[in-house]
Amino acid sequence: MATDTTHHVTTETKKAKGFGQNIESDLALEFLRVVEKAAIASARTMGQGDRHLADKVATETMREVMDTVPMHGTIVIGEGERDEAPMLYIGESVGAEFPDNTSVPEVDIAVDPLEGTNLCATGAPGSITVLAVSERGGLLHAPDCYMEKIIVNAQCKGCVSLDAPPGENLRQIAKAMNRDVDDLVVVVLDRSRHEKLINDIRKAGARIRLIGDGDLSAGITAAIEGTGVQAVMGSGGAPEGVITAAAIRCVNGYMLGRLVVKPEQEQRLARMGVTDKNKIYTADELAPGKQLIFAATGVTEGPLMKGVRFFGEGVRTSSLIMTLETGKVRFIESIHLEKKPGARVKF
Ligand code: FBP
Repeated sequence: MATDTTHHVTTETKKAKGFGQNIESDLALEFLRVVEKAAIASARTMGQGDRHLADKVATETMREVMDTVPMHGTIVIGEGERDEAPMLYIGESVGAEFPDNTSVPEVDIAVDPLEGTNLCATGAPGSITVLAVSERGGLLHAPDCYMEKIIVNAQCKGCVSLDAPPGENLRQIAKAMNRDVDDLVVVVLDRSRHEKLINDIRKAGARIRLIGDGDLSAGITAAIEGTGVQAVMGSGGAPEGVITAAAIRCVNGYMLGRLVVKPEQEQRLARMGVTDKNKIYTADELAPGKQLIFAATGVTEGPLMKGVRFFGEGVRTSSLIMTLETGKVRFIESIHLEKKPGARVKF
């Protein structure tokens, strides 16, 4: 099943490396390979105007590389249900094959092989390949509906509410950050459902950055200080919300989310074990894992990660790999040399 022969895992290497002891230290760099390769593949489709192709290529590559990772992995957030997605569907088992009784980590995985398919198809900034990993049960099995979200950085912990008017939240954020409301930048998905929200933010005096897609990467940007973005508000995908929450926990940011459930989605929600559809979730409840890995690679240019750059002799990628328990936030710049020997590497 494993097609990436450069990473053949034997029982001996697993024992030597101590796989199965710690999800974060065993697998963080393995998942770096997964998001990097998916980003390189989808970046080749940048600007081709075909979002489905961009997504397909990212999904296929992510799936292929996942099967070289020494783990018993289960997709808990993916490309859809088994009958609607050919791979990386919810419930799918992934991981390298190895002899029985070999100790490898049991993990749940949430993937968005290409967040911002339109952004990649048009070459616009902000598309990323992204995933989150935890021990079993460490990521909420979110239904494919919208989620109302508010995301801020560590300074504003506990000072915002999904029940408060946007103007009040902005005043609280400004106070916590010791600045004026008109010094704040709020990212909002440019959607007609956000018309009132946008008007309310404008009335309060804050500045707005409207984005075409990609509230997951925007959420991480808002949770990290010094990025020029102080909040994300509005509704976006609930699955994206869970992956965002994993990142928010790793950077000690603050996030609240509430599912937006249509009547026809209520039964499915009940089947998934969601009993209170009005519940407001914190990041700790969306991604409750004790151990978490968040991995993302930029496909097109973004505020935290550069896009994939092809330079003839190789490829350069920018990634963000974070782990919760081991407390690491790694910005990783990789050069993948394709012409060997004799490739030239520049700083
Ligand atoms: P894709 O990754 O499928 O292109 O979607 C990106 C996205 O913009 C997310 O960032 C966001 O959560 C969601 O879609 C919003 O959904 P909608 O486009 O229906 O408003």
